[in-house]
Amino acid sequence: MPAGEVRSFALAVVDPDPKLRTRLALQLGEEADVVTYSEVAALAEYQPPGRQLVVIFGPGLADAPGLSDIERFTRARPDAGAILVAAELSTGLLQQALRSGVRDVLGAPTEAYSLHESVERVSRTLTTVPTLPSAGLAGEAPELGRVITVSSTKGGSGKSVVATNLATSLAQRTSRPVVLVDADLQFGDVAVMMRLAAPHTLVDAVSAQGRLDAQFLQSLLCRHEPSGLLILPAPLEPSFAERVSGADMVRIVEILQSFCAYVVIDTPAQFNDVVLALIEHSDDILMVAGMDIPNIKNTKLGLQTLRMLGVPEEKLLLLLNRADSKVQLDVAEVERTLGIKAGCLVPNDIVVPQTVNKGVPVVLDAPRSDVARALERLAGKFCDAPAAPSSVPARKGRSLFGRT
Ligand SMILES: Nc1ncnc2c1ncn2[C@@H]1O[C@H](COP(=O)(O)OP(=O)(O)O)[C@@H](O)[C@H]1O
Ligand SMILES: [Mg+2]
Repeated sequence: MPAGEVRSFALAVVDPDPKLRTRLALQLGEEADVVTYSEVAALAEYQPPGRQLVVIFGPGLADAPGLSDIERFTRARPDAGAILVAAELSTGLLQQALRSGVRDVLGAPTEAYSLHESVERVSRTLTTVPTLPSAGLAGEAPELGRVITVSSTKGGSGKSVVATNLATSLAQRTSRPVVLVDADLQFGDVAVMMRLAAPHTLVDAVSAQGRLDAQFLQSLLCRHEPSGLLILPAPLEPSFAERVSGADMVRIVEILQSFCAYVVIDTPAQFNDVVLALIEHSDDILMVAGMDIPNIKNTKLGLQTLRMLGVPEEKLLLLLNRADSKVQLDVAEVERTLGIKAGCLVPNDIVVPQTVNKGVPVVLDAPRSDVARALERLAGKFCDAPAAPSSVPARKGRSLFGRT
């Protein structure tokens, strides 16, 4: 950092061993103004005024009890960046460290330059947290974002493809924030489809309970740089799903609506309590149906359920996926069977699994394909502003699964 420049984040070092603590603090630079603590609990009180925080956890915390203390800290302070220094870099430790919310792991003993590099890298992830837009002029109620739930009664029908592309396109059409929430709590794959290694998930939002507000929720969102879309990913552990209620999810969506123009929600294939609560709360419900007989049968059952629950017809939009002549199912016939006109037809195209495997939404990777055009037309139904071109080309050479 050039002399005289004020660092936008504060630095802290935590390790039970005073010698290690001092060594790490000195490596960060004498003028770096580093606070040191012997245990994680003491750090919880440290709130640098007006600045974000990067914490280096020393080798004395690179074990199960240390990592669970670190996890408690990162959950309570998702705005802080955590770096772990560990004597042994096993796969198991790396995995545990990532699950504890650590953003980078370094081998001990550290070299000063690699420590600096890591701090710089982690501090850059802090600045990607969007700033809270001002809540309008005095007395003016901020406009609530539109909630669009993408649902279907059959796995593999294309919900996540539709949700990721719709949200990406909407993010490019508006300057206000757009968020995609992965409510497929057990097997959500939005983060993988967008090739994002998100430090926080819905677990952090649900665990925050009373402390949950717009500022806190914003700090949990991960930004998809090419489109500007914000993502709240599904939990990493399928078992966490049992601990999330419909009311929890609706509360999170309500807060997101307070600062986002659109909240797009991807869902699992069943109508569980969480999905039904979200559907009830939504402005639009996009029913995705694949073009085969079992899919149509289940979509009919799903639509009947929604009608029985009193969901107004005008909120429903039917999307027929893989709808082209080769499947030998006539769209008009399907519409008659379902008692609803299709609002969107998306063709079958090999480019979809190709872009899914690349981790780039098809609307960015193959914008001229018929599939991308169909998905853009869908986004146009919610926002008629044209999509701005994506700012960053598709990235290459990252790990296969963004979330692991
Ligand atoms: N229009 C399409 N053309 C070709 N393949 C598609 C299309 N839509 C979805 N797929 C493929 O189907 C798979 C399942 O889609 P996905 O969106 O994950 O379904 P869901 O979320 O409903 O379980 C995707 O990986 C994708 O490769
Ligand atoms: Mg899915």
